[in-house]
Amino acid sequence: RVAGPSVLVLFGVTGDLARKKLLPAIYDLANRGLLPPGFSLVGFARRDWKDQDFAELTHAAVKEHARTPFREEVWKQLSEGIFFCPGEFTDDGAFDALAMMLKEIDETRGTGGNYGFYLSVPPKFFPLVVQQLKRTGLADAPPGSWRRVVIEKPFGHDLKSAQELNAITSAVFPESSVFRIDHYLGKETVQNILALRFANNLFEPIWNRGYVDHVQITMAEDIGIGGRAGYFDGIGAARDVIQNHLLQLLALVGMEDPTSFGADSLRREKEKVLKAVRLPADLSLSTARGRYGPGWQGGEPVIGYTQEEGIQPDSITETYAAVKLEIANRRWAGVPFYLRTGKRLGRRVTEVAVVFQRAPHLPFSKDDTEILGQNALVIRVQPDEGITVRFGSKVPGTAMEVRDVSMDFAYGESFMESSPEAYERLLLDVLIGDPPLFPHQREVELSWQILDPIEEFWASQGAPEEYPAGTWGPKSADELMARDGRVWRRL
Ligand code: BG6
Repeated sequence: RVAGPSVLVLFGVTGDLARKKLLPAIYDLANRGLLPPGFSLVGFARRDWKDQDFAELTHAAVKEHARTPFREEVWKQLSEGIFFCPGEFTDDGAFDALAMMLKEIDETRGTGGNYGFYLSVPPKFFPLVVQQLKRTGLADAPPGSWRRVVIEKPFGHDLKSAQELNAITSAVFPESSVFRIDHYLGKETVQNILALRFANNLFEPIWNRGYVDHVQITMAEDIGIGGRAGYFDGIGAARDVIQNHLLQLLALVGMEDPTSFGADSLRREKEKVLKAVRLPADLSLSTARGRYGPGWQGGEPVIGYTQEEGIQPDSITETYAAVKLEIANRRWAGVPFYLRTGKRLGRRVTEVAVVFQRAPHLPFSKDDTEILGQNALVIRVQPDEGITVRFGSKVPGTAMEVRDVSMDFAYGESFMESSPEAYERLLLDVLIGDPPLFPHQREVELSWQILDPIEEFWASQGAPEEYPAGTWGPKSADELMARDGRVWRRL
């Protein structure tokens, strides 16, 4: 899989995402030989810059964040195709200049009129940029070439705004040319959920209500909101990651087998399971939210959320969210899916744990099995990527004592190949035009339908419960589990 002749136009080149992820990913693709020689990168931003300035920014980003080793010859070839177009999104002249620049690039570098437009900008600018692409004709692909638009979450902040946002892009680009990035789908370990389930016959027969007690999906972060107050406040943890990353994980764990890994089959199965998601009747018992107060992280004191720069003291935004969901279908009826995420928790870990029912009868004495947990299959998305199966094993000795042990698969030990960064994989898919790993608008809307009632309920509840930074979240989240006679996994 190698990209064909193409240009990637990046709006929002001076942002964090571009510097930390997108620019390094482009270099990594080049370094792995996955970009054609004429591939070109055009930056567009409100800076009085020349091509050289953008090339320098890219160079610094690559040096700092690229996954693969720096190779002068790769950089030299890539940098010859780096261009910059200065301008405001409201400036017609700047977009006319962009159109001319792209034409020239096609002529000199053989990029064939194939353009990807990456909108790494806040959604409030989408209408402007998309309109400009339409006005200049850049959105319309001449026969034999393609035009694609890549958008980054947040796709709205509720169902209504997501639909409005979609109306703007879909008025200009057909759905097949819209690539919505949920970078979790670009992660190797997330794609492996499908391989684990559908390339094997070992797990699928027990992947249902007959054997599974419940599922826990956790995305814990040790970082706070950093410099992202402007984005995060008023949005909160649930809109930030449950609406997208965690519900996508739920969909992959919960879906039926697709007939193929083509976009249509995969999306259809994900949609079916998202459609079947139900909220328990009483949201005060099945959801929890919190926000970090001052505490300790990595041996250092850290400030609380409301002390972060740019946060209003009367903010009611949550930095921790936990929800219990049910899936109303034959496979999952009665099996709760618990989703939790939070910032400033004990450590960074994302995992999916499928926890199995206890054995129906234990022929061992109670004392010997008291500490026995439930069998679990844990997919570690990050870090220490891999899969662990927890099961009871006899403790060596003359008594019949049984204790939990782990059987581990670790990527690092089993594979020589290194994993591409999520953005690397997704950018390549955009350039190739391969959509399975990009959520369809219908998935985005279904996910908002799940979250909207929860957000509405929380909005009426005032400030979230505080938890000290560096701990595992608010007490109400533990109580949520305790009510069901369960506990969160210790991470
Ligand atoms: C982003 C969220 O989508 O994912 C951030 O907006 C979060 O708040 C980030 O920190 C985490 O991504 P990753 O890949 O580090 O788990």
